[in-house]
Amino acid sequence: MYCVHTTALSHRFSASQQVLKEIELAVPTGSIYGFLGPNGAGKTTTLRLLLGLIKKQQGEILLFDQPLHLHRLQLLRQTGSMIEVPSLYGHLTAKENLLIWQKLYQCPKPHIAEALQIVGLADTGNKRVRQFSLGMKQRLSIATAILHQPALLILDEPTNGLDPYGIIEMRDLLKTLNTQHGITIVISSHLLAEIEKLVTHTGIISAGRIVFQGTLNELVSRQQSESQMILQTANNTEAAQIVKTFVSDVVINAQHISMPLLSKEKIAALHRALVQHKIDVYEMNAIKKELETIFMELINQTKHD
Ligand SMILES: Nc1ncnc2c1ncn2[C@@H]1O[C@H](COP(=O)(O)OP(=O)(O)OP(=O)(O)O)[C@@H](O)[C@H]1O
Ligand SMILES: [Mg+2]
Repeated sequence: MYCVHTTALSHRFSASQQVLKEIELAVPTGSIYGFLGPNGAGKTTTLRLLLGLIKKQQGEILLFDQPLHLHRLQLLRQTGSMIEVPSLYGHLTAKENLLIWQKLYQCPKPHIAEALQIVGLADTGNKRVRQFSLGMKQRLSIATAILHQPALLILDEPTNGLDPYGIIEMRDLLKTLNTQHGITIVISSHLLAEIEKLVTHTGIISAGRIVFQGTLNELVSRQQSESQMILQTANNTEAAQIVKTFVSDVVINAQHISMPLLSKEKIAALHRALVQHKIDVYEMNAIKKELETIFMELINQTKHD
């Protein structure tokens, strides 16, 4: 089941620029879904559409399996969000800020202490929010977003501007919200490295199109299938014949033999076969593509479409 499901979601702000092109997002219930894309790709526009903050023009948006345009208020009551700049009152304390939201949401008062506890701001007492670090402000924004105990949390670049420590803190907080409080999370970012350790699923958007959607493992296997191995031996011509019994896609260069990345078992078997044929192995190396490289290649492909 999907917590968020869009089909053929398109959007334009002007006749000349189509910002979203038939976006299909499928966010499984219980997942942490990383919505990745470079600046201007259309992340914020998509998330604003999901929250009904801009009017849908084309396509379908389902939240919790129900059309957003038919049940907007009821569906948004189960959704928390933080889109771009967090709106907080600097002259008030954390608790006072949450009191405003509690009245707005009309949720029970004890939710305030619970939310502050969850985000790690229970001990900030009389400290005004303007004296908070950026990381604390971001966590307070998360507290406002979870105050009404939503089932879905939509966050637009919540790690923007945070230092590495702040990023780790935010990652831990979001993991807790997901695993201990059962909240499905959609988080956008323009840096894969920033959310790679957090997400279970990813959707990659580039120039308004989804260029990849699936689990992180699927992205990793794509990485595996595109990675290469090189082999250097005392007799590359003879070695290549042996390599060909393991894999067909073999290229012999002056210096080495290159081939697609083999499984661990096949690497061991190839090594044994070379030794049996008395071919000295000088080098056997996997040249793995970084996930970031795969991400950049996916993005660049669409830029040149
Ligand atoms: N209100 C608006 N009016 C006109 N054009 C807009 C508006 N909002 C966004 N755009 C355009 O839509 C495109 C996508 O913008 P969007 O903010 O959704 O991208 P993004 O992926 O969130 O980028 P970033 O990483 O910079 O936040 C951009 O070309 C942007 O200029
Ligand atoms: Mg944005």
